[in-house]
Amino acid sequence: MDVLLLLVNLIIVAGTDTGESLEPSFDVPIVNVTIIAGKTAVLPCSVDFLGEHKILWMDHRDKVMTFGERRIIFDDRISLERPYSKDWNVHIRNVNHADSGRYKCQIQTTPPKTKFIQLYVQEPAKIIEELSSKDQTVQEGETVQLICNTTGIPTPTVTWYRRSLRHMDEPAQEVARSGEVLLIHNISRYCGDIYECVAFNEIQPEARRQIRVTVEFPPEVYLPNRRIGQLLGLETILECRVTANPQTYSAWKRNGHEIDNDWKYRVVVFEENENTITLSLRIRPIDKEDYGDYVCVSNNKLGSDREKMFLYQYEVRKTTPLPIEIFPPVRPSVQGPDSVDRLDKTTKDIAIKPIPPDGGFPNYGHGKPDSAKYGNNGGNILFPNFSALSLVFLVLTLVCTAR
Ligand SMILES: *[C@@H]1O[C@H](CO)[C@@H](O)[C@H](O)[C@H]1NC(C)=O
Ligand SMILES: *[C@@H]1O[C@H](CO)[C@@H](O)[C@H](O)[C@H]1NC(C)=O
Ligand SMILES: *[C@@H]1O[C@H](CO)[C@@H](O)[C@H](O)[C@H]1NC(C)=O
Ligand SMILES: *[C@@H]1O[C@H](CO)[C@@H](O)[C@H](O)[C@H]1NC(C)=O
Repeated sequence: MDVLLLLVNLIIVAGTDTGESLEPSFDVPIVNVTIIAGKTAVLPCSVDFLGEHKILWMDHRDKVMTFGERRIIFDDRISLERPYSKDWNVHIRNVNHADSGRYKCQIQTTPPKTKFIQLYVQEPAKIIEELSSKDQTVQEGETVQLICNTTGIPTPTVTWYRRSLRHMDEPAQEVARSGEVLLIHNISRYCGDIYECVAFNEIQPEARRQIRVTVEFPPEVYLPNRRIGQLLGLETILECRVTANPQTYSAWKRNGHEIDNDWKYRVVVFEENENTITLSLRIRPIDKEDYGDYVCVSNNKLGSDREKMFLYQYEVRKTTPLPIEIFPPVRPSVQGPDSVDRLDKTTKDIAIKPIPPDGGFPNYGHGKPDSAKYGNNGGNILFPNFSALSLVFLVLTLVCTAR
């Protein structure tokens, strides 16, 4: 009797035990799945003691994806994968943003037990070409709006860089962060450069776009020397620097007539940089009629400018022999086959220039007040108007200076 009772007890105990353990349960905690668009998302669901119960998967719109081992949904990117017998994982191939949401793995008990799986699909930053700015040509003083319209999940940060056209080897300079729109108010000639936006949302690769901004402005003529003296019979070189965009027409004039190249005159154009050329006028040999005024003129569709200089007769004083300076025309800024093609062969000759009586050019530097033009106070001063911007819209005043 005692033995039987013990046996019954044992069975009851064992029965209770088994009853509790055999209740189906999820064996992994709730998870979030984060994946990059295009890849295969694995939504895990692992169940202990499933017994005769069935597993049902619902997608983020509560549509049944699988029931038991069968796929119900009409989407062949989706499959049920069972690496181990307790696994009921759903795979979604080639996921996209529309797949993001809360999925459910459900054990069909009464009431059903549900596990939620949150799927986040990320997309690397992209720049929509059609909605972004093209290269543009503007006039000085205008307001320029550059747009890089981006997509991506999470929302990308857009950073703007400026890359100098004149110094392509220099690293690009960051001008602004976090804005799809870069506004440049009252654009100056020094802002004419390549602007690059880089969109990035921590998912490789980043997206880039370059926009070239050309700033047009009327010519400015600058003469390094306003007066120059030379002996009769020798030669001299007059120099004129023209800054303009576009460079349309520049010339040396004498008595209202453009000076052409001939046996006596030689005009050579040196390209100094993007917007600046130097017109050098070589005169040889100098005779009496050559003394007087020379005018350097330039014009383009936006305006014109002219500057006058004076060539005067220098005479040797009896006692002091005239010091002679021999120098090749140094043109460090002339580079590349393009500009070389434009140079005249005569530039390779040696120019001979006597040093004027007072040891220098009398009026040197009395050209236009020009420090703003040729100053080397490089860099930008930025005034982002933070009060007026949302995270994706940036208003920026870019003060560009010569570099
Ligand atoms: C899943 O993401 C939600 C929302 O971002 C967050 O609140 C939750 O803590 C995350 N859960 C896990 C397990 O990471
Ligand atoms: C980018 O394009 C979208 C869609 O056309 C538009 O709604 C949005 O305003 C654009 N963003 C900018 C900064 O232009
Ligand atoms: C625009 O910039 C020029 C210098 O580049 C300055 O002289 C002028 O006052 C500015 N105009 C405005 C409206 O800010
Ligand atoms: C900066 O933002 C304030 C507030 O929105 C606005 O009043 C002001 O005109 C803005 N300044 C510029 C230079 O855009």
